[in-house]
Amino acid sequence: MSNIQQAFDSRKGVWRIKDIFDFHRFANDDFSAHMDYCAEISKGKRVLDMGFRWGQSTAAFLVGAKSVKTFDINECLEGREIFDEAVEVDKAYWEFVWKDSLSVDPEECDILFIDTDHTGDQVYAELTLHHAAVNDGGLIVMHDTQAFSSMRNGIRQFISENEQWGVLKHFVHSNGLTVLHRGRSEEAL
Ligand SMILES: C[S@@+](CC[C@H](N)C(=O)[O-])C[C@H]1O[C@@H](n2cnc3c(N)ncnc32)[C@H](O)[C@@H]1O
Repeated sequence: MSNIQQAFDSRKGVWRIKDIFDFHRFANDDFSAHMDYCAEISKGKRVLDMGFRWGQSTAAFLVGAKSVKTFDINECLEGREIFDEAVEVDKAYWEFVWKDSLSVDPEECDILFIDTDHTGDQVYAELTLHHAAVNDGGLIVMHDTQAFSSMRNGIRQFISENEQWGVLKHFVHSNGLTVLHRGRSEEAL
C-alpha cells in the first residue's frame, strides 16, 4: 500500500485537494520540489495530465487549474479514491480517463503534462500526437527529463521537426522538469 493510501485510510476528517497537495508537497520525493511551479503555471488553465499513479502532479494542477483531465494506461483505483472525495468537496473539475496516452484523440488544452513511460520514443510520440492541441500561449511540461537522457533525445527530435516549439525551462533538480513553449529555446536541454 502506498504512503498516501495509508495516510488517507487513517485520516481524521474529509480530505480536500489542498490536503493531498500538502501530503505530496512535503513528501520530499522526486516531484515534490516541482509542485509549486506546476500549481503556479496552471492557475485558471485547462490541463491534460498524462500519467497518474498516485496523482502527485494531478494534485499540483488541481489546486488552481480550471480543469484537469488525467490519463493513465492503468486503472489506478487506489489513487483515484482519494481524489474522488476531494474533488467533490472542492467542486473541482477532474476527469480520469483509463487509456493509453497514444490512443486518445488530441484535446484542446493550455497545459499538456507528460509523465508516462520514460523513453525517448514514447515522449516523441506523445509530443507529436498532442502538441497541436495546445493553445497558443500554452505550455508542454515533462517530468523526469534529467534522469532519463533518452527523453531528452526524444524532445530534441520533436523540436527539430517542429521548430515553432522551444525550451522555455529545463530544471535539472528532482529528476528534471522540461517546459516547452511556442518560441525560441531559452535554455539548453
Ligand atoms: C511516473 S508515474 C506518473 C506519476 C504522476 N505524474 C505523479 O506525479 O504522481 C507514470 C504513470 O504513467 C502511466 N503510464 C505509462 N505508460 C502510459 C501510457 N502509454 N499512457 C498513459 N499512462 C501511462 C503508468 O501507469 C504510471 O501510472
